[in-house]
Amino acid sequence: MHPLFVRDGSGSERPIASMPGHAQRTVDRLDGEVGDLAEVGVRSVLLFGIPDEKDENGSGAWDSVGPVPRAIAEIKRRDSAVTVIADVCLCEYTSHGHCGVLDERHAVANDATLPLLARAAVAYADAGADVVAPSAMMDGQVAAIRAALDDAGHADVAILAYAVKYASAFYGPFRDAAQSAPSFGDRRAYQMAPPNAREALREAKLDEEEGADMLMVKPAGPYLDILHRVRESTDLPLAAYQVSGEYAMLKAAAERGWIDEPRAAMESLLGIRRAGADLVITYYAKAAARWLNEGVAV
Ligand code: PBG
Repeated sequence: MHPLFVRDGSGSERPIASMPGHAQRTVDRLDGEVGDLAEVGVRSVLLFGIPDEKDENGSGAWDSVGPVPRAIAEIKRRDSAVTVIADVCLCEYTSHGHCGVLDERHAVANDATLPLLARAAVAYADAGADVVAPSAMMDGQVAAIRAALDDAGHADVAILAYAVKYASAFYGPFRDAAQSAPSFGDRRAYQMAPPNAREALREAKLDEEEGADMLMVKPAGPYLDILHRVRESTDLPLAAYQVSGEYAMLKAAAERGWIDEPRAAMESLLGIRRAGADLVITYYAKAAARWLNEGVAV
């Protein structure tokens, strides 16, 4: 799966410095990238939105004419066979950059955030998304989204749950790309503590019970043990997200000529598959598909 950053407006394509080969694009500039992906055989995209305006509640997340709903409609119009997955989180849309709304003490309010995430998921389903992927790490988000999708007549829209998401330093380049770094504090109250392995199994089980159709572990490379353990504990399809920092490290070393990029990148992806991922979300998706077609040996 290939992540795409979609911004408000038109006529713009801004390269992301820390993620060479990736850019923030307006909806009218997605065509070339989506065409390239189809050509090499990448058939699914994960969309992140970058709105022009943010507010306390992240209301842009459920704006039916926001960048994500418009991108979904455009990609589907171009080729309805592309699987379109919409990330569901408030951090790109809130003025404070947290993944949920804040209470009077400036703490993230878990339960008050759930209906807002559900509203965003329904907006993406209305626009034609095949899958929604809640990444806010609020407790109960999968159940809230499932109920809202069903009520809105979207029983066939699947949920890919970011079930196991660690509070990782490897999200740095993404936060630049999505302009979603928290303006105060950090995400440790809702994302998981890196040393804790057993909690991953509990998080995965809860999301499965709440109705997730697929589970995800994130980041991928530093958490292959977790991926393997979750693989052994569920029969659901399992996704792994090779995140922005993992990509940036490989790219930076390759640019300096310190590693053989195709081999090292393919080896990193192979490790993720070997640990048990059925699906891999990676900024290398397009390049990896090309390398596979060319027969690059790991
Ligand atoms: C939104 C979200 C993040 C990523 C995916 N969804 C950032 C975060 O939690 O800070 C990270 C993806 C990446 O680093 O490639 N909550």
